[in-house]
Amino acid sequence: MFERFLVGPSLEFGGVALEDLVAEFGTPLYLLDAAVVRARARALRSAGGEAHIAYASKANSTLALLQIIEQGGLDVDAASIGEIEAALRAGFGGHQITLHGNAKTDVELHAAVQLGIRRIVIDDFVEIGRLALLAEAADKRVSVLVRVAPGVDPKTHLAIRTGQDDTKFGFNIGNGSALQAIEAVRAQKSLHLRGLHFHVGSQLMNSQAHVAAIRRCGELARDADGIEELVVGGGLGIRYTPDDNPQSVSAFVDSIFHAVKRAFKNDQPKIGFEPGRWLVGEAGTTIYRVAVRKSVGRKTYVAVDGGMADNPRPQLYGAVYSAFNASKPGEDHDATFKIAGRHCETDTLIEKAKLPPSTDVGDLIAIPSTGAYNACMASNYNRYPRPATVIVEGGEAFLAVQRESIDQVFVNERLR
Ligand code: LLP
Repeated sequence: MFERFLVGPSLEFGGVALEDLVAEFGTPLYLLDAAVVRARARALRSAGGEAHIAYASKANSTLALLQIIEQGGLDVDAASIGEIEAALRAGFGGHQITLHGNAKTDVELHAAVQLGIRRIVIDDFVEIGRLALLAEAADKRVSVLVRVAPGVDPKTHLAIRTGQDDTKFGFNIGNGSALQAIEAVRAQKSLHLRGLHFHVGSQLMNSQAHVAAIRRCGELARDADGIEELVVGGGLGIRYTPDDNPQSVSAFVDSIFHAVKRAFKNDQPKIGFEPGRWLVGEAGTTIYRVAVRKSVGRKTYVAVDGGMADNPRPQLYGAVYSAFNASKPGEDHDATFKIAGRHCETDTLIEKAKLPPSTDVGDLIAIPSTGAYNACMASNYNRYPRPATVIVEGGEAFLAVQRESIDQVFVNERLR
């Protein structure tokens, strides 16, 4: 996985020597390769043709990264008032934002109405009435999508499965709720029903679950009539290890187009995609320094200067990453190490990492594919300040998020 970082005998990231980046910005360090994000935005737009594409900003809403996405011609989806704020600060207009959420606050709905955002995705019956009132009070007609639970079970980790019948999200197609929701929205003058939305799950290796969901939505659209749009959520997976083999984006998009054609027959809706992880995940790499090497029985640990506070995914989802020794890229990576974090519990980052046998204290360890759901899910566990994010492009490094200081960790607290 690390060959792409090798330039001659040394390692570079976006045209900058890794050693220089670490010398300037320290470790642990989130690196983002802007060229990868731009290339993926381009690839998706060219595969997607007329489809609407909104980046799911929950994956990483670092402002300077959102700017790159906006320059790439994509819109954005937000799941909270904070993500709306991030999109606005990064330069998106309200008309480019879609709002999600299964428990939106009045503050969020009100902001969405005032900003004239592109779509609000309705998730519950109570929300229909609440939003209609807010829209009436503002004398506006708000465009909405009805989020449906299509009753399909994607094969992915339980915590990121959302398409099944008993999900907390949206309206169940199978028990008739989705059709009722469509009718309830249509009964409100201040709401304009544009279509349907689903998101079946995340880190999916192919479009099977999407295709099944589209079939269900096609059936629903025949009963509901006049569905102009179908947003198929995000979900396309990425490579965390050399063994991961996700479908290509063009094959994924084509299979969605094909499925919609078949399911909707003469009434073709406009299609929307909402990728998060696929756009930014592989653009990111986290750099750590080895703090301790320790052998216990047959295991050899390397403990690094980060862990579950900067990457909670192994703990939360059993996510498996790969690593390489960025100080010794030329050496064979043929010894097995357990990479441990520095937190006060068993926060294993990688159970079985292949590294050079000589890996030792002071070496830099790089973990690729950390651009999605790492920085945005980071915490201050054990009172560690969160890492910096540096965006690298064309041989230049841009400090997008500065490293938190120890004072910032305490900034909201008072003693009695
Ligand atoms: N649209 C909606 C409505 C979503 O809920 C999500 C992700 C996406 C789009 C983007 O999905 P993606 O393309 O990134 O798979 N924290 C978890 C992932 C949670 C995903 C939540 N929803 C993780 O680290 O794996």
